[in-house]
Amino acid sequence: MSSLKAVRGTRDLLPPDTQLWNRVEATARAVFARYGFGEIRTPIFEVTELFARGVGEETDIVSKEMFTWEDRARAASEKAQSLTLRPENTAGVVRAYIEHKLGDTGQLQKLFYIGPQFRRERPQRGRYRQFWQIGCEVLGPQSSGAESPIRDAEILEMLASLLDELGVKGWRLEVNSVGSATDRPRYLAALREALAPVKDRMCEDNRRRAETNPLRVLDSKAPEDQDLINALPKIADYLDEASRDHFAQVLAALDACGVAYHVNPRLVRGLDYYTRTTFEFTVPDGSGLGTQNALLGGGRYDGLSEMLGGPRAPGIGFAIGEDRLILTLEAQAGEATVAKLDAYIAPMGLGQNAAALVLARDLRRAGLSVEIGDGSFRLKKSFDAADKIARHMVILGEDEITSNSATIKTFATGQQQKVAIADLQKILHS
Ligand code: HAM
Repeated sequence: MSSLKAVRGTRDLLPPDTQLWNRVEATARAVFARYGFGEIRTPIFEVTELFARGVGEETDIVSKEMFTWEDRARAASEKAQSLTLRPENTAGVVRAYIEHKLGDTGQLQKLFYIGPQFRRERPQRGRYRQFWQIGCEVLGPQSSGAESPIRDAEILEMLASLLDELGVKGWRLEVNSVGSATDRPRYLAALREALAPVKDRMCEDNRRRAETNPLRVLDSKAPEDQDLINALPKIADYLDEASRDHFAQVLAALDACGVAYHVNPRLVRGLDYYTRTTFEFTVPDGSGLGTQNALLGGGRYDGLSEMLGGPRAPGIGFAIGEDRLILTLEAQAGEATVAKLDAYIAPMGLGQNAAALVLARDLRRAGLSVEIGDGSFRLKKSFDAADKIARHMVILGEDEITSNSATIKTFATGQQQKVAIADLQKILHS
């Protein structure tokens, strides 16, 4: 019988690799708490219409990449419902905001999430069909200050601090403004007009995008089309005064707190809900991501709540690709350092197995991390097993048990000593 494997584009995360995942998540949670964020957990699947309306029918995500199914009716009288594994979580968070009337509190909502997302993309390094995002969303009624440029700058400054705290080297922040709901149609009209005479000289993908979603042409990486794309109109020239002023204030606040950025007029991002500020953080080549160098992306979505039938609730947020962050940290750190246990207890005979378990229990209750060997192991085998995973080996033989002591070997120094059981904790804690 052939063996069963994880589905293409999905993978198992195993120890010790999960140590780094846990460290990243713990650091993110600690940083988010300092900025006043609370955790939100939304379902992993939602009605398909949420993404069609929120993310946009014409986007790659909705038109090609979603895992969607018709859910069977529970009773013959009920209609089947189209459901989708979430390809991203902003739409779900805004749905929850509307459903629970969070706007009625009048307060700014600062929410974060950590969890899997699903997109049927062509798998490659840094691109999976199930991947993890660490994201934040800040939204609220206009009176809560949700639209203020200070929110944009705060989010970007927090990301800069988080990446620094995690030890990501060489990150680069690219920002742009894609304007408001009124700027966008004027820009799109200009873009369509400029594309009309040149689109036939572009690659097939861009010819299609020029028809269905011209903004997507701007972030095309097709090398043969770059000159034509660079000559297209820039969105910055189509922003109204309020949008230009908003963007200028975001940049001024970033300057004030010393966050370096690059304005990239072609950064439009692949989701339809964005308005005004958009951004991405990338890492340099050689950081383990291959061509997938966007570590995270986000932006403002001032009209999303209304698109989903809710009240006006301007907002801004981001999602970090956790898989990509981990690949980057692994590549930049070189050799991964795996934390070792405090002690490996090695009973020297089957008669000492029970005593080893009792000692392990007491040490674990005192907060130490401990593994136990088996009394049928030889000393050499215990030594090899212990050296791989622990800082100390605690040897329990007949002698030791009768004298209420243990022999402890410290691998870092090679030192070996016989100590009273009562002193063991102190030595292991040091
Ligand atoms: P996004 O740019 O589609 O934005 O995804 C954010 C990040 O998720 C990307 O920069 C990338 O690191 C990671 N990512 C996306 N697709 C994959 C994949 N197939 N495999 C591995 N990593 C991937 C959003 O999802 C928005 N919801 C972000 C946002 C939040 N905007 C406002 N609030």
